[in-house]
Amino acid sequence: MRRTYSYLLLGFGLAAGAMDALAGALPLPEWQHELAVKPQGDAARGGTLYAEHGCAGCHGADGVADNRQWPMLAGQRPLYTYKMLTDYQAGRLAGADAAIMASVVRELSRQDMADLAEWLGALPRPGTATGPEPAILRGDRKRLIPPCSACHGAHGQGWDLQPALQGQNRDYLAKTLQRFRNGERSNDVNAGMSQFAAKLTEEEIRALAEYYGR
Ligand code: HEC
Ligand code: HEC
Repeated sequence: MRRTYSYLLLGFGLAAGAMDALAGALPLPEWQHELAVKPQGDAARGGTLYAEHGCAGCHGADGVADNRQWPMLAGQRPLYTYKMLTDYQAGRLAGADAAIMASVVRELSRQDMADLAEWLGALPRPGTATGPEPAILRGDRKRLIPPCSACHGAHGQGWDLQPALQGQNRDYLAKTLQRFRNGERSNDVNAGMSQFAAKLTEEEIRALAEYYGR
């Protein structure tokens, strides 16, 4: 048992070494570079920037948007928020709503984005996932869809690059899944979200938005 384990580790070590060598030789994917150079965020400065840049006008003073078509930002995972801001700035999201964000973030530095993300992540997030639980929440083996909780956490609380879903504005949640499904949103790393969204039915999307959203 122990021996098998150490062989596994050895195999893993070799693979990791080979990956490093490869990474040195090949240009890193854009997203990997963005995340590797993320500065440490300063929440207090982020609060000031949020006010200065008029984010509250659309996302609410405390990160809770009134407009349910637009995302709630309060309590979102800082790494995810940071990634989204860099994606908007780089033009990696298509559509009219993304164009609004692209113009808002045009002048922001990487440090500004990290600070905003840190501040937003620390704000209280209203709304919890409430029943009824749709069957698709637990995934579907036949269609190779894992449970949402495998990446988004048992309560939709998110983790690092996987955003919190719990308490997200219902309409935004549904709209986002539709856009992943239709290929209108493709900024997810290695198609880590769109490959599953592509297999969801309209009814499932509605039910998921109803379950997680507010
Ligand atoms: C004029 C309205 C408006 C302003 C001002 C605005 N936003 Fe947005 N924001 C939006 C809309 C609309 C979307 C949804 C875009 C889409 O569908 O791709 C969005 C999306 C986002 C997202 C993605 C969230 C997610 O869960 O996918 C983040 C993060 C964000 N905004 C942060 C900010 C910050 C920080 C500021 C201030 C620097 C700001 N926004 C200013 C309208 C606005
Ligand atoms: C294998 C991991 C994985 C699984 C399983 C998964 N997701 Fe995701 N999801 C992600 C990642 C990663 C992102 C962030 C994509 C990006 O960077 O744009 C994401 C993004 C999202 C977003 C966009 C949120 C926002 O604020 O913009 C929604 C909504 C979402 N997922 C819903 C779901 C639902 C519902 C399920 C279950 C049917 C699910 N996801 C299953 C990894 C996953």
